[in-house]
Amino acid sequence: MNTIQIEALVKQMTRLEKIGQMTQITTSFFNVDGAKATGTASRMKDVEQHKWIVGSVLGKLDAASMLRIQRDYLQHNRLGIPLLFMTDVVHGYKTIFPVPLALSCSWNPEVLRRTARVSAVEAAAAGFQVTFSPMVDLVRDPRWGRVMESFGEDRLLLGQFGAAMVEGYQTDDLQQPDTLAACVKHFAGYGAAEGGKDYNTVDLSPLSLYNDYLPAYHAALQAGARLMMAAFNTLNGVPATANTWLLQDILRKQWGFDGTVISDWGAVKELIPHGVAAGSEDAARLSLQAGIEIEMMTTAYIEALPELCEQHPELEQKLDEAVTHILQLKQELGLFDDPYRGVSEAREQEMLLHPSHRQAAREAAVQSMVLLKNQNALPLNPNHRLALIGPFADNQHLLGPWSVDGDPNHTVTVLEGLNQQGVHVQSLSTDDNRIDEDVLHQAIELIQQSDTVLLALGEREEWSGEAGSRASIGLPLDQLKLLRIAAAAGKPVIVVMFAGRPIELAEVAHHADAILMAWFPGTEGGHAIADILTGRSNPSGRLTMSFPYHSGQIPVHYNHLNTGRPAHLLTQEKRYKTQYLDVPNESLYPFGYGLGYSEFAYGDIDADTCELSIDRPLQVSIPITNNGEYTGCETVQVYIHDRVAEIARPVRELIAYQQIELKPGEKARVEYTISAEMLGYYHTDLQYRADPGEFELIIGPDSRRGASVMIRLV
Ligand code: NOJ
Repeated sequence: MNTIQIEALVKQMTRLEKIGQMTQITTSFFNVDGAKATGTASRMKDVEQHKWIVGSVLGKLDAASMLRIQRDYLQHNRLGIPLLFMTDVVHGYKTIFPVPLALSCSWNPEVLRRTARVSAVEAAAAGFQVTFSPMVDLVRDPRWGRVMESFGEDRLLLGQFGAAMVEGYQTDDLQQPDTLAACVKHFAGYGAAEGGKDYNTVDLSPLSLYNDYLPAYHAALQAGARLMMAAFNTLNGVPATANTWLLQDILRKQWGFDGTVISDWGAVKELIPHGVAAGSEDAARLSLQAGIEIEMMTTAYIEALPELCEQHPELEQKLDEAVTHILQLKQELGLFDDPYRGVSEAREQEMLLHPSHRQAAREAAVQSMVLLKNQNALPLNPNHRLALIGPFADNQHLLGPWSVDGDPNHTVTVLEGLNQQGVHVQSLSTDDNRIDEDVLHQAIELIQQSDTVLLALGEREEWSGEAGSRASIGLPLDQLKLLRIAAAAGKPVIVVMFAGRPIELAEVAHHADAILMAWFPGTEGGHAIADILTGRSNPSGRLTMSFPYHSGQIPVHYNHLNTGRPAHLLTQEKRYKTQYLDVPNESLYPFGYGLGYSEFAYGDIDADTCELSIDRPLQVSIPITNNGEYTGCETVQVYIHDRVAEIARPVRELIAYQQIELKPGEKARVEYTISAEMLGYYHTDLQYRADPGEFELIIGPDSRRGASVMIRLV
């Protein structure tokens, strides 16, 4: 089907058929095993009569159900327009990868691309065609539970990793039956929810939006993503669902997006509690006018638009535009040629949890984990007797939130992972919140019989993810009690930490000899942890979000502004500075930070002329040596600080990074090309350019340390 044929098809459609295309319901309306109509869906009874005209479904599916639903649907749908199947494949379909925040700590777009590719192969085999991923919301508040879905606090990494996932899902040929169309979300600013409370108000200045929050959505679209999801939140007072500035001026006019725009779940009718719509009719009109083309999981469009368009015929054009985009998407996915996209139960069975997918998940998990502390406790001493204690010692709930179709029964636990590598341990599983006195006694006994204590601690899966906000992000008190008991025994204590967000680790860092941040590592979690603990793999993950000492410090992102009274300025009186009196200003573990089993030494930066211009970039390089005993991977990070600019600029901002692998004793020179473009930012006129003048250029292992030189843009 080509553009002209799509136009002709739109002309044949009745108004109700067009509105049907713009409505999305769950697969539960088509009786899929395990798909339940919960929440909003259970209140959609009136949809039953329209289900043969709705354009798309979301939710639970398998190959057999997809084949059945599509066949029935095509028999009922007057014009034979195939149904579109969408879902949330966020970090894997059946083979679950680490949560996105963890994946971002690989600092490796290739890892993200591969993850998305495997996810697409599995989900497409089960009948899906669109995934609501990647989420590229910039997050500075780890209390927000959905931080686990994000790539952290830096706009450059967010954009690059989002783009890599889009490429992995879609490849360069969406017609191939093993691809998924990517839906970028949540446009815009959802990650800046006030106080870290989910769905909360977002207020961001235009400069902050342009410089920090919008670039990642744009980067993911530039990688070819075919859908965009509007966010739940208000942005500067206007809900994103009804935000014409966002959905028209920025998305369509400035960025030239020609794909499909979908609301978030129930968000059209949420315009009523937001207080900008009096009822369904208002909500439908505002959303349609702003540019929402598919209403997810409410029926304001079907209820109100037929009548509304009768009264306001000018709205008909909006219907036509929306339906054209939706049909184009179906065409791009090849659905008009093969509405089943080659789905078969045999292919599904072959693809789900394929050994090569599990291997990819294991490698991704290894690359995602971040070694935060290590005082000679790791790798494990093979001669030591090991006690493994805690809520995650032998727990299959390591998949993390948004692993919708993942099955914990397929998950490798820490105990299993260690045992399979021949590490014999005595283990004791505890509750995550309340650890009884008798369990503590058993723990003490076990610790006494061991040489090293391995504590598997953290927050349970439901404590992060959607609606998983927390006011403070420490460990439950009983877990800290267990830690203190272990530390008091005077034996090396290694903590493996599971969480969907940065956790307050000051006390853990005080007691533990080593801390490995394992996040929610997915199906192969236990194997990957064992790989690192035994030294079979050398940890190389680097944080993409700063870890606070204390929740009260939040936000504590690395790229903050200096203020007029920065804490380090000696000329100020001691008190009258930007600081807390009771906790440090800095994070406990900064953005970019992470250890490994190698020792990398940085030399001085070589920057020939130290000058660059718009058409003459600058070459800089730095020598790195691996002085350790393990082959290792180092992420060499480049930051700038614009010393004098039109607006206050961050104390540091990441502009480039490279990963190098070096053998023990090996030395390499890492080179970068610094262009004027990389030094730019959006000015008060909202135009992007770089200011001539001096910049501090820092190259180092994280956002806090590094060698620096002054460079000049002329
Ligand atoms: C609500 C979430 O905000 C969104 O990210 C997700 O894609 C939809 N539900 C569909 O499940």
